Amino acid sequence: MSTALPVELDDIQGLVRFGYKHHTEASYLLLRVIDRDAARRWLAAVPICTATSVEPPPETALQVALGSEGMRALGVADAIVDSFAAEFVTGMANDANRARRLGDVGVNEPSRWQWGAGARVPHVLLLLYALPGKLAGFQSAIEAQCAAGFELVDCLTTSDLDGVEPFGFTDGISQPLVDWQRKRPAQDGERGDYSNLSCLGEYLLGYPNEYGGYTDRPLLDADLAGPRLPRAEDAPDRADLGRNGSYLVLRQMRQDVHGFWQFVDRCAGGNPGLRDRIAAAMVGRSRDGVPLIGPADEAIEGGGAPGDRNAFTYRADPHGVRCPLGAHIRRSNPRNADLPPGRPGFVSWAMRTLGLDGEALDRDLVASTRFHRLLRRGREYGVGVPVEQALAGPPVSTETGLHFICLGASIARQFEFVQNAWAVGVHFDGLPNESDPLLGTRAPAADGTPTDGFSMPRADGAADRLAGLPQFVTVLGGAYFFLPGIRALRFLATTQMNGEPR
Ligand code: HEM
Repeated sequence: MSTALPVELDDIQGLVRFGYKHHTEASYLLLRVIDRDAARRWLAAVPICTATSVEPPPETALQVALGSEGMRALGVADAIVDSFAAEFVTGMANDANRARRLGDVGVNEPSRWQWGAGARVPHVLLLLYALPGKLAGFQSAIEAQCAAGFELVDCLTTSDLDGVEPFGFTDGISQPLVDWQRKRPAQDGERGDYSNLSCLGEYLLGYPNEYGGYTDRPLLDADLAGPRLPRAEDAPDRADLGRNGSYLVLRQMRQDVHGFWQFVDRCAGGNPGLRDRIAAAMVGRSRDGVPLIGPADEAIEGGGAPGDRNAFTYRADPHGVRCPLGAHIRRSNPRNADLPPGRPGFVSWAMRTLGLDGEALDRDLVASTRFHRLLRRGREYGVGVPVEQALAGPPVSTETGLHFICLGASIARQFEFVQNAWAVGVHFDGLPNESDPLLGTRAPAADGTPTDGFSMPRADGAADRLAGLPQFVTVLGGAYFFLPGIRALRFLATTQMNGEPR
């Protein structure tokens, strides 16, 4: 029987709790260790902003994440590194099967990446956030401090596009509501309703997750770790290296804004109203963020009041007439409960559960959403391209896109599942050979069938189907990191090569 310990906000890196929205300037430094001792000394003492609320907010905030190669380069014992999740240990780019599953094929192939493969796998990721006008000085100071221990693989700059991603759609509207108070009962029972409230253990290791259990993580000999690490809630005789830490996925995704709008415009025959409607169907929201499923009129646990742009499910639109089944937001969060929807009552429940209701069974191909939520923390980069300019062509070489970042307690169950089964998957929700309209690679299926379509179902007959979608998003780099709790970071920076504390 585990004892629920208080949530230690001062041991959690602030990014898990805050998006640092007021810190409109940000950059990400990708580093490799060149001098182990100097790198360790710096990581052992550098000030990190925590999840504790501070008024006024700090002018600058530093967050630190480590890759598995980085842990080894810092001298962390193999036995400890290998006790992290397998996909983190292997890395995003080191496995051809993983690359295929994530859609990192063709022009997305890791061998073509600007960073994230081979000798350009970052060991350490520094995330720098600053209030307006404060980033340049902060970054120079951090770079100077790091110079002795690290070399810079790349510096990813970001832009403040005012909450709009480069294709022109409002972003950052939907996020899971993290149960910081630990009020959501930890249980693995069926849940009949979609809830936006999500157990803390879905995003932080060391706390109960949506299955009512604790996600696997490195648990060490408490005598060796001494008082430097917290004890595991579910195994009090073990030191919990994972507690208060989160896995962090970073992917640099270039967006072809010209290609996107010119394609949509061709499909619309140059009609501006239709062009906007098709583009919105691909996303699932209009450009100003209003969900196509609307009017949003459901009360959703943890999802805002009726009328909120996030208070909706797809229950009343099972065939995707209002919001296509394949729209980006419907794929990346189908907002379903554990059971396929249906009429209340025992008979209906039994038919759905036993798989006797064929229609419900089709919909059940989309697994329960609550095990696959992502806490998105990415930022845009490059210059915004207004739609009119994107349409005017010929394309200028504008470099713009998204530094996609998400946090979760399991990369495999959260990011990789969403990316693979829902975004890249060409049969998502029974769709005929098509992938995410924004993210898809359009690579033909194994039998050569094209996957470059997008279906927009109609109430009165066959779906409208676009064909020949080009690839709009190209992956330029990516890596898996661990964003440790503060005590865990200090431990990793001071533990000796054989894993014994100094
Ligand atoms: C360049 C790449 C991408 C673009 C342009 C993009 C764009 C958007 C936009 C405009 C929204 C709607 C705003 C909102 O609901 O907050 C959204 C939502 C979302 N996206 Fe993406 N996205 C990209 C990549 C990804 C990736 C790689 C994933 C995960 C594998 C992802 C997962 C999500 C999720 C989970 C939501 C919220 C859905 C919901 O809860 O309703 N996105 N994205």
